[in-house]
Amino acid sequence: MTHLRVLLAGATGTIGRAVAEELTARDHAVTALLRREADLPTGVAPLVGPVDALPGRTFDAVVSCIASRSGLPEDAWAVDHRANAALLRLAEQSGAGRFLLLSAICVQKPELAFQHAKLAFEAELRASGLDWTIVRPTAFFKSLSGQVARVKAGKPFLVFGDGRATACKPISDGDLARFITDALTDPAARNRVLPIGGPGPAITPADQAAMLSDLLGREVPLRRVPPALMDGIVAALSLGGRVAPAMRAKAELARIGRYYSRESMLLLNPDTGAYDAEATPEYGTETLRDHYAALLSGEVVHDAGDHAVFGE
Ligand SMILES: NC(=O)c1ccc[n+]([C@@H]2O[C@H](COP(=O)([O-])OP(=O)(O)OC[C@H]3O[C@@H](n4cnc5c(N)ncnc54)[C@H](OP(=O)(O)O)[C@@H]3O)[C@@H](O)[C@H]2O)c1
Repeated sequence: MTHLRVLLAGATGTIGRAVAEELTARDHAVTALLRREADLPTGVAPLVGPVDALPGRTFDAVVSCIASRSGLPEDAWAVDHRANAALLRLAEQSGAGRFLLLSAICVQKPELAFQHAKLAFEAELRASGLDWTIVRPTAFFKSLSGQVARVKAGKPFLVFGDGRATACKPISDGDLARFITDALTDPAARNRVLPIGGPGPAITPADQAAMLSDLLGREVPLRRVPPALMDGIVAALSLGGRVAPAMRAKAELARIGRYYSRESMLLLNPDTGAYDAEATPEYGTETLRDHYAALLSGEVVHDAGDHAVFGE
């Protein structure tokens, strides 16, 4: 087994932290590049500073799990594109043989600023001459858990339409971290884009409500939200955004919400333009149902994620 010297960016994020834990568990030497001091998993060495100012260090591989926390256009271009580009230059200077990027499956149908920023960096990475791997996961558990507390408190589960128009194969933080760590040393993952979901089958929002109903042992009512409502909200905020910058940000967040209310986090068939659950690769063993059970029992606490369509 090869033990690598890995520079990890984004180790304070949901997936980055899980990746730091998995890499150290497999005896890779992990240095975490941080923008400020932070608690890190045991064994991970911190390196605090801007991405573009760390000369004189040697690494075998660079892993980027950084991402804009807001998804707003300016921040997305600053982080998903420019900070990653600076990290790529750092990788080249540090002698790293491989760069692994955590991206997202939704870039296959780009409509939002953060998706264009991610794609712009993906293109730079592919053209860089380094060995690269781009991991494009489906939905994370945190993005599907925002309603668990309200449902536990007796409120209905909110869905767009009948709750069956979209689906995903959710992947746990730990399974994704194991997939990323495998990919880092797997020759077959070299210069590949890897879409990845958790263990199947694909799950719709209505299925999520049914899971909660089953776990709670009582009926969980669905409250149906008309899908066209999001169009109205986006239109109103976009109009307001012409005069008030704060509304511009809200309009983009509404566009993000609308996107996830319509699009599945599954592999897109480019020929038919349809999402293909069967063709979406699966990995790991941890299920959303078990995660919901752990949330309901209080064993784990919900980590409010970005881009959740319905929050608490
Ligand atoms: N949520 C989903 O369902 C989903 C699904 C598929 C793919 N993804 C993608 O997966 C990726 C990781 O998501 P995540 O939930 O793990 O992210 P996250 O928890 O929001 O963490 C983001 C990380 O990026 C760092 N970061 C943000 N701005 C930075 C900056 N200006 N300079 C340096 N570092 C910066 C953060 O550091 P600080 O702690 O200093 O802020 C943090 O470590 C994202 O690209 C996301 O789009 C998400």
